[in-house]
Amino acid sequence: MSKKKDSSVVYRCASCGYTQPRWLGRCPECGEWNSFEECFSQPQANVPFSGQGPAKPVPLKSVNPMECARLSTGTSEFDRVLGGGATRCSAVLIGGEPGIGKSTLLLQTAALIETNGRVLYVSGEESASQIRSRADRLGISLEKIDILSASRLEDVMSALNDLNPVCVIVDSIQTVYSPEAGLIPGTVSQLKYCSNELISWVKERDSVLFISAHVTKDGGIAGPKALEHMVDTVITFERNSDDVRFLRAQKNRFGSVDELGIFSMGEHGLVQIEDPSSMFITRRTGALPAGIAVVPVFEGSRVFLVEIQALTIPAKASITRVFSEKIESARVSRIAAVLEKKLGIKLSEYDLYVNVAGGVRISESAVDLALAAALYSARTDLPCPQGLALAGEISLAGEIRPVARLKQRVKTAQTLGFPRILAPEECEGVTKVQDLKTLIKELFAK
Ligand code: TYD
Ligand code: MG
Repeated sequence: MSKKKDSSVVYRCASCGYTQPRWLGRCPECGEWNSFEECFSQPQANVPFSGQGPAKPVPLKSVNPMECARLSTGTSEFDRVLGGGATRCSAVLIGGEPGIGKSTLLLQTAALIETNGRVLYVSGEESASQIRSRADRLGISLEKIDILSASRLEDVMSALNDLNPVCVIVDSIQTVYSPEAGLIPGTVSQLKYCSNELISWVKERDSVLFISAHVTKDGGIAGPKALEHMVDTVITFERNSDDVRFLRAQKNRFGSVDELGIFSMGEHGLVQIEDPSSMFITRRTGALPAGIAVVPVFEGSRVFLVEIQALTIPAKASITRVFSEKIESARVSRIAAVLEKKLGIKLSEYDLYVNVAGGVRISESAVDLALAAALYSARTDLPCPQGLALAGEISLAGEIRPVARLKQRVKTAQTLGFPRILAPEECEGVTKVQDLKTLIKELFAK
């Protein structure tokens, strides 16, 4: 930032970016001592938007819609999560815990992204030769990739201006700093300042920006959160206990946020799993154990068959607990409460454990019916019948409510060896259940 003589002086906290007119020993916002430094406020209110006088409103119908040219990342799973490829002039933030595969995904994308232009891969974490060895291990084409192993924003910006790349990858944003944004590297104000410069650069050209950011499991690093409103797309990278990785959009200005991208991490990097519909069910010979029920759930445009597992144990403490990571605990408690009230089955004196095979997180309400079946089966030790799947939402009054796109769910379940479906609607192949008593009769009468 250039210091102009006519600008008014303000004091900005180098740690959190809090600005105020007087110098203070301690920042009232983040509590940091001696972090205020003198800077010059930018007279933003007087800056015309277009450089040709003050900004004026125009009729919306006279505005040309933005052309959303897309670049395929070369991986259909990643393209789907982005809403059909990476949109030009946009910024994508990829967050995930260290070691999950952000650098691997981005290097693979650098090689595969369908463009005739250059791709600049900026790494503040690894040296150029480390990246070259990784690229060789991944067996990717090196043709269009330029590597910049640097952390200073000014070096990155001058490389951008020299190369004019179509795709810019910054791995990770937490390693980039600028002396213009305070004395302490890694602060929120550094993150914001550097991201803003990079985002402005791609927006003014026809380029795509991918930024990676480390997030710890407990959200210990707050930084990436501060960037979510600045970028167009926020993607999180998650894993289950195996080598399976999930990509999910949390925010997307250019597509839906329900799509799930599934990859496995192998010897040669990330491999997309294109037909994952059956990967979350366990193949068994013989009868099902008690506490298991299967549900066809939608993740974006695809149906997955998912196995819900429940276990109920008499509580040792006076307070009972719900252990459920992949399905919201509040949903588990709510279904347990409805079962207790409507069917008289005691669950409130039990600790409830719920898991989803394959480790996929489920937030769709269609899971309610299978969750109820799994909890009831676990508590009574009666196994659900084989070859049966359930789809339905349960209200607090104990009614079973319809779910969207039942036909597609039935078709997937039948294709994968589940010919019988319980759901609250008429549909070919479906046994209709509209209340919990009928559900239990259908499940366990025999
Ligand atoms: P990495 O992409 O560096 O993760 P991040 O950038 O999110 O910190 O590496 C992810 C992990 O994957 C690392 O532990 C090594 C492993 N890995 C493989 O198993 N196969 C491979 O081909 C590569 C490149 C990495
Ligand atoms: Mg990395």
